[in-house]
Amino acid sequence: MTSFDTAYAERTTATKALYDRARRTIPGGAGSTARLPRNGWKPYPLFMSEGKGSRLRDADGNEYIDYLLGLGPMILGHRHPQVTQAVVDAVNQYGTCFGLPYELEIEAAEKVVAAVPGLEQVRFTNSGSEAVGTAVRLARATTGRRLIVRFEGHYHGWQDTVYWSNHVDPVLAGPADNPRPVAMGPGVPAELEDTLVVLTWNDPESFVRLMEQRGEEVAAVLTEPAVFNTGCILPEPGYLELLREQTTKYGAMLIFDEVITGFRFARGGAREWFGVHSDLTTYAKGVGGGFPVAAIGGTTEAMRMIADGTYSHSGTYNANVVQCAAVSATMDVLATPGLYERQRALGDRLGSGLKALADEKGIDAYVEGIGTVFQFWFTDRPIKNWRDAAAHAHEDIFTRWYQEMVVRGILFHPLQFENLFVSLVHTDADIDETLTAAESALTVVARER
Ligand SMILES: Cc1ncc(COP(=O)(O)O)c(C=O)c1O
Repeated sequence: MTSFDTAYAERTTATKALYDRARRTIPGGAGSTARLPRNGWKPYPLFMSEGKGSRLRDADGNEYIDYLLGLGPMILGHRHPQVTQAVVDAVNQYGTCFGLPYELEIEAAEKVVAAVPGLEQVRFTNSGSEAVGTAVRLARATTGRRLIVRFEGHYHGWQDTVYWSNHVDPVLAGPADNPRPVAMGPGVPAELEDTLVVLTWNDPESFVRLMEQRGEEVAAVLTEPAVFNTGCILPEPGYLELLREQTTKYGAMLIFDEVITGFRFARGGAREWFGVHSDLTTYAKGVGGGFPVAAIGGTTEAMRMIADGTYSHSGTYNANVVQCAAVSATMDVLATPGLYERQRALGDRLGSGLKALADEKGIDAYVEGIGTVFQFWFTDRPIKNWRDAAAHAHEDIFTRWYQEMVVRGILFHPLQFENLFVSLVHTDADIDETLTAAESALTVVARER
């Protein structure tokens, strides 16, 4: 037993009992594979009892400042009073689900469209994976082409068409300038490999070469506009513009997967922040302030086949009352003047504080991100894409950093290829407390090296 194992066991006896109980009726003991020990939650995931604002309490009564934010959706913290009240009121007033349209749905759509530059229409759905699946098939339907171009290290949900080459073993994927797609798990039909081209991100040469060779076959280029599924990696200057220019040139669609970036560091997400507009955009974490809702949006032209019904975008629970009430109220809160500026500054203060502490203690690390979402990379060089991350990010040091922080009441994802989320309700006191914990955690990390 390491000292962490002992400390964790002592403070999580109720969690451990729940975990043992859960495993009897829930495969693996949790509702998503992402919550299991094999995905970093070692020796077992914390069981939570309550969230409020920026804080969580676990089953043993331990409190945490929360930078996990439910893996992203709790953009307004836990139980935001305005959003919670709006959902309760809407359910009491309308019910939950009609299988028919209603006015609150229009209100929610209007507010999303107003928030995002260049977005003209939006359809609501239930999860990011559904939204991406819809966008990919819609691009194929619109262009009459089959090929989807995407990038190693990005994650676009669990559907067969895109569940490829996320954190892939470079040995299996081959050379960085011409990787082959690798399915991320068993059960994905191997023949889908022919429908994909997977490239290294932030590498203009390989992208331009591919478009020169196969641009006329490409239905869509699908990308996270800033990568938040391999820690945080920002686009190199001009890279998103290049994707836009080349897709337009070859008549392919550009899909921004804004499931994480949407509404996060700017109200208009990456489209606003980077000033590059995609044809289709997917949203999920953030759009409903923590309620389960996702969206696919685009220009009226890009949504044409959905509008005329030739492309069937269906779903019993699409645009249900809980979703639309949550979206509408969330959009109202996000429109608060100065909100993003204040919270980005807060997140930047945390990021630069962590970097300064690492420097002070002689630990090779840097912070990359945009205020309200970032990663603290333990590496001695910049990470520009998945290949850099696989070769140069020190997961072992990150693990110790996570462990020393979680026992000090600071929660974020235990893996370096995830990130830290700062909600729009975190406070200066949260950041001060986190930096105090970080100073002592990094002292331990530095001592062990
Ligand atoms: C960029 C991105 N796209 C799609 C998804 C899938 O979303 P969901 O988990 O809601 O299906 C995720 C989830 O983490 C994501 O980060």
